[in-house]
Amino acid sequence: MNDRPLSGAPTARDTVLALAPSRIREVANAGLGDPDVLPFWFGEPDEVTPAFIRNAGIAAIERGETFYAENLGIPELREAVAAYVSRLHRPTAMDEVAVTSSGMSALMLAVQALVEPGDRVVVVTPLWPNLTEIPKILAGNVVRVPLRFSPSGWTLDTARLLAALVPGTRALLVNSPNNPTGWTLEVPAIEAILAHCRRHGIWIVADDVYERLYYRSAASPLHCAPGFLDRATGDDRVISTNSFSKAWLMTGWRLGWMVAPRALVAHLGTLIEYNTSCAPAFVQRAGLAALRDGETVVAHTRERFRHARDLLVGELNSIRGVTAAPPPGAMYAFFRVDGIDDSLAFCKALVRDAKLGLAPGGAFGPEGEGFLRWCFAASDARLAEGLARLRRFLSARPPSPAP
Ligand SMILES: Cc1ncc(COP(=O)(O)O)c(C=O)c1O
Repeated sequence: MNDRPLSGAPTARDTVLALAPSRIREVANAGLGDPDVLPFWFGEPDEVTPAFIRNAGIAAIERGETFYAENLGIPELREAVAAYVSRLHRPTAMDEVAVTSSGMSALMLAVQALVEPGDRVVVVTPLWPNLTEIPKILAGNVVRVPLRFSPSGWTLDTARLLAALVPGTRALLVNSPNNPTGWTLEVPAIEAILAHCRRHGIWIVADDVYERLYYRSAASPLHCAPGFLDRATGDDRVISTNSFSKAWLMTGWRLGWMVAPRALVAHLGTLIEYNTSCAPAFVQRAGLAALRDGETVVAHTRERFRHARDLLVGELNSIRGVTAAPPPGAMYAFFRVDGIDDSLAFCKALVRDAKLGLAPGGAFGPEGEGFLRWCFAASDARLAEGLARLRRFLSARPPSPAP
């Protein structure tokens, strides 16, 4: 029997009411619409999608590709993703690939496919809040394992993570290179985690959207961060989710993919049917052009961001009270500012008084409190103006008490 009260405002179920609204949005809402605000709060490159990718989408619309497509994606794109993953990681066939309507949707589908109410899901934090909230929508029980910060970077205590992956854990959700810290898994940790998860039948959901935005000396000739797909076979309980958004400058197209064991892929097709049914065919044609001819776009994007990272991190560290570690991957500086204990209030004041839009570290979990996130996918001129605003704002603040 449903004993929910009939009175009160019509609203969502309790699990949804308990979801944390995005604090990045909360800051952005305070400044959106103000043309004087310089925003670096969202994770979005500032360049329009390259013309050859846009034109592939336009041509498909003009050819009349306006109908439903296959649940798992058009065969040409699934083939192209399989070939791309084979070049980057390990031989992969088309029947291990599902095309999705964004990287976000791929993550939701992975969790829908695996997590029953009450299942234990382990995440490495600080972390993009979408990844910690998705399992909660499905009533999963999220357990956080924090990274450690030092001025030289964020590190994972692998033993601590393995201890959290107790037998019976359903899945590990891990984003590497990581949003917001840039922390990136290294091969020994990948091997230890994979061996442990194999032993206990734990699924690994690897969010690989930033794998091409990796700045350490080439880990592979294709400049790709090390990942679980390098070591896992098609029989392992490993799902890799990915997206066209960042490396190919396609955030607004909403296109992504998953690589998963064959036996799961058919069920992903069923889930896609009941979520979005399919990614639009003309968007998939644009994705196909990106994979076929887009290596120069990826290389250009990575080098541009590497330059922006070096500029931003160098300048941030020259400000008194600021500590920024150079991130090995992704597109964010996640830096500490002495004296901040409420990053949300700080970011709101920063928007109001300095017209500078940054994301509060607390949005990424309690481990991120005291930090700010700055997306550096931007031009030198914008970064320099943002830095000038931050300097002015910090120098107008009363000095923080000596530690
Ligand atoms: C860690 C991480 N995963 C996944 C995504 C999803 O990207 P999209 O939904 O645009 O494909 C993002 C976007 O910001 C992200 O930061």
